[in-house]
Formats: sequence, C-alpha cells, structure tokens
Amino acid sequence: MTTDLKRFYTCGVAFLIAVAGVTANAQDKVLNLYSSRHYQTDEALYANFTKLTGIRINRIEAGEDPLIERLRNEGAKSPADVLVTVDAGRLWRAEQLDLFTPVTSKVLAARLPDHMRVPNDRWFGFSARARVIVYNKDAIKPAAVQNYEDLADPRLKGKVCTRSGSHVYNLSLMSALIEHWGEKKAEEWARGVVANFARAPKGGDTDQIRAVAAGECQVAVSNSYYYIRLMKSDKPEDRKVIAKVGLVWPNQKSFGTHMNISGAGVLKHAPHKEAAIKFLEYLASDQAQSYFANGNNEWPVVKSAPLDNPELASLGNFRADNLNVGALGKNQALAQRIFDRVGYK
Ligand SMILES: [Fe+2]
Repeated sequence: MTTDLKRFYTCGVAFLIAVAGVTANAQDKVLNLYSSRHYQTDEALYANFTKLTGIRINRIEAGEDPLIERLRNEGAKSPADVLVTVDAGRLWRAEQLDLFTPVTSKVLAARLPDHMRVPNDRWFGFSARARVIVYNKDAIKPAAVQNYEDLADPRLKGKVCTRSGSHVYNLSLMSALIEHWGEKKAEEWARGVVANFARAPKGGDTDQIRAVAAGECQVAVSNSYYYIRLMKSDKPEDRKVIAKVGLVWPNQKSFGTHMNISGAGVLKHAPHKEAAIKFLEYLASDQAQSYFANGNNEWPVVKSAPLDNPELASLGNFRADNLNVGALGKNQALAQRIFDRVGYK
C-alpha cells in the first residue's frame, strides 16, 4: 500500500476531505486501484502506465471477497477508481451490488473480443484461465475423461475430487453448463459428480491436483494456472506431482473448455473516472496484456498480444468455450441452488 493511501485510511474523515480537495485539482494524475492481484509482473504493468500517461497508481491489495466488502462499506465515500479481481462470478457479484459504472470506450470495443465484454459494459475480461480436468496417469486413461460429462459417469465412482461446490470457480463452471445444457441436465450432472466423490470437497485446486498425484482420488478439476505453477516449480515434491498427472482440455468436440477471467471495472463513485477508463484501455494494449496475463500464467484475451510464457505455450492450442462472461454471472444463483439440492457442499 502506498504511504498516501495508508494515511488516507488511518487519519479519518478530516484527512479524507483534505485529500478530496487535492485530487480534485489533479483530476487525471492519480488512480486508486483496488486489486486482488499481487504478482511481480504488476510492478512493470503499473510503472508502464504511469510512464505513458503521467498518472500515478495508488494500490490497495486484498483478497477478492474482502475487497468487495470494503467497497460496499465505503459506499459513495470510496476513493477507489477501479476494481481488478478474478472470476466472472465475483465481478458479477460486484455488479449486483451496484459498484460499477458503465464504460463506453471505442478502444475496449475494438480490442476486446465480444465475449469478454458484458452487454451493459460494467466489467471486462482482460485475461483468461481454463477449468481443466486433471487425471492420474497410472489409474485413468485420458480417453475416459475427455468431457465434463465424464465426471458424472458411474465408471468414475469413488474417483473424483474437487474443491467446494460453493466456491465461485465451481459455481461459474456450473453456470456455463446450465447455459449449454439447461437446468435439468446440469442438475443430473451435478448429482452424478457428487455420487462419484472420493472424499468430501476440501482445499483449493492445487490440493486436488496433489490428491490426484497421491492417489487419494484419480480425477479432479482445476484452473489451468495452478497446473502451470506446479510445472514451473523447482521444488522436487511439485515435480513429482506433475510427473504423475495428465491434463485434458474438456469438451473439445462440443462447446469447448470452460474459460473464466481476470477482469476489471470502473467503480460507480470513482473520483478519477477519466484516469480509470484510460487504465482499462491500457490493459487492452498488447504490452499490458502480456504483463497482466503472465502475472498469473493466464492467456491474454487480445489476439495480437504476445504469449510470453513457454510453459503455458507448451500445453498447445485447444477449443475454448466462447460463452459471454455475463452468462457466468447470470446463472450463479441457480448454480448454487442446484448444488444445494444435490448436496454438493
Ligand atoms: Fe485461483
């Protein structure tokens, strides 16, 4: 956190008014960014923006849910201009709390693929992650786990592990499946997955990959960057995990692999709206795309942006689901109701 913002938050209302006066005079020279990211490449990402625009960035970094809670509590007094966070489900939640303002930008419309922009222009996807199937190479033939449908197949009884059903990554996957299959088939699928569990859901995605490698279960789902992190790790125990497991891009012959995003939106009460829009437009530039995606081993969403990540590139091309990210948000509540009905805790 910068000194400015630390003082901002420790000195209370009097200081808040003083700062409001200062920022009003320098309308475009400062940007207050709330971000759930904390990667090394971000230093270059932000420094480059300041170099190009003269706009200094004050950062508040915190977990995804605490940041949204903080914005909610701050209300109209929030100093935040932009929220950067992960998963369409979370960005949608921020939208439901009326935290964002619509952004009409020719740059964003021209640079970002259609499915990375929600119809009401309140938030945007700037990098992409895939939700993949990971399997134990000694126990499972990859042909048996080519589709999300396979996770619910009785042949995999007692073999599947995942993180909690109430986690946003699984709710977003379920939201996509509802969109493709409709509620009835999606619910049958969820019931089948629960019937196949090797153990009650626990831990994060990396824990599922480790459990697959250890043979506690044989098949799991994980966001792609957790797999890449293990691939890049120098630790011998991580090398062993990666040697044991294989990766499948699910549903290559139907709608493609479920994709999610790291994304951002301009906040409704942003004191520096112009700077905020400039920042989002900057994130869509080739260079920023590369920094932004690489920070978390994700794919840039702008096609002309270079993929400067050999491990990620080594996984090759695949068919990605091009569902609009707005659909992932829209179906969240139904996804949770279905998981509740089938006991996917
Ligand atoms: Fe994650």
